[in-house]
Amino acid sequence: MPRLLNKVAVVTGGGRGIGKAIVEAFVAEGARVVIGDIDTHAASLESQLGAERVAFKRTDVTVDSDIEALVAYAVQRFGRLDIMVNNAGALGDQAALVNLDPNSFAKTIALLLGSVALGHKYAARQMIAQAEGGSIVSISSIAGIQAGWSSASYDAAKAAILHFSRSASYELAAKQIRSNVVAPGLILTPIIGTACDVAPEHYEAFTESLRAPYGDLIPLGRAGNPEDIAQAVLFFASAESSHITGQSLAVDGGLTSMTGFDIGGVVAQAVESFNAQIDRPDDGKIGWLPNKNH
Ligand SMILES: NC(=O)c1ccc[n+]([C@@H]2O[C@H](COP(=O)([O-])OP(=O)(O)OC[C@H]3O[C@@H](n4cnc5c(N)ncnc54)[C@H](O)[C@@H]3O)[C@@H](O)[C@H]2O)c1
Repeated sequence: MPRLLNKVAVVTGGGRGIGKAIVEAFVAEGARVVIGDIDTHAASLESQLGAERVAFKRTDVTVDSDIEALVAYAVQRFGRLDIMVNNAGALGDQAALVNLDPNSFAKTIALLLGSVALGHKYAARQMIAQAEGGSIVSISSIAGIQAGWSSASYDAAKAAILHFSRSASYELAAKQIRSNVVAPGLILTPIIGTACDVAPEHYEAFTESLRAPYGDLIPLGRAGNPEDIAQAVLFFASAESSHITGQSLAVDGGLTSMTGFDIGGVVAQAVESFNAQIDRPDDGKIGWLPNKNH
């Protein structure tokens, strides 16, 4: 049986990248989906995936009344709301910390964290009114787990999503509304191209150029695809995770659970040069237990 049969979902930022893959995965599992996106590129998904299953509403996720209208539209169009995915985002302010501009900082926080808060607010209102529970899934980032992936503003907003969701899950548990987070690693989407001012017609080629260097960095040896994230979101959205709330899942090919550098190799090299400097017979030299990497 399809995992989201008769479910209605809202996906913000569903027009492309990770959000689009989430919309496609949800529709494939029987859901009806309303996409809220600031860019009308999402509108074509209505005809691509079928207007009886997918609807688009232009939405700026930083605007309270837009999110309220987005949830109301889902109810008007498809009758209810079971799943809310807070996905829309961008890299936001990437200026050096010493040049931090308060307005730009506030905009970044509003886009990345405020949108998640508003998504919870209006989804929870509707789900409480329906009295049948629901699932809210928010997209954080490995930048919310480890420093150094992006600007301090982006990293802080993404970290705050993790704790916002934990707190929300506590507040909403009695109503059977779950809140969980997916933290993507390095995923091949236009997000970097947009931040680097790549022209839209070159997004695809530019994104593709990141495949090999991302693969070199990632312990599992390949860049992430939007579908990798969509499958994790699908799990949190479906009944398979019905006893899970307040949790997060990094989908990052091992980036945040492994060092990413060869400490064994560094020590082996130090041992070798140490042995070369000391005047001892071979059998008295210090040793180093090689592992599979060296
Ligand atoms: N791609 C990655 O490597 C990566 C890694 C970690 C986290 N993320 C997060 O995943 C989410 C999706 O990113 P993506 O890579 O698919 O990016 P993307 O740029 O491909 O897509 C983002 C979508 O959000 C929409 N959007 C932007 N601002 C909006 C606003 N104010 N209101 C409504 N919609 C808006 C855009 O129009 C676009 O359709 C973001 O929250 C991002 O921070 C991405």
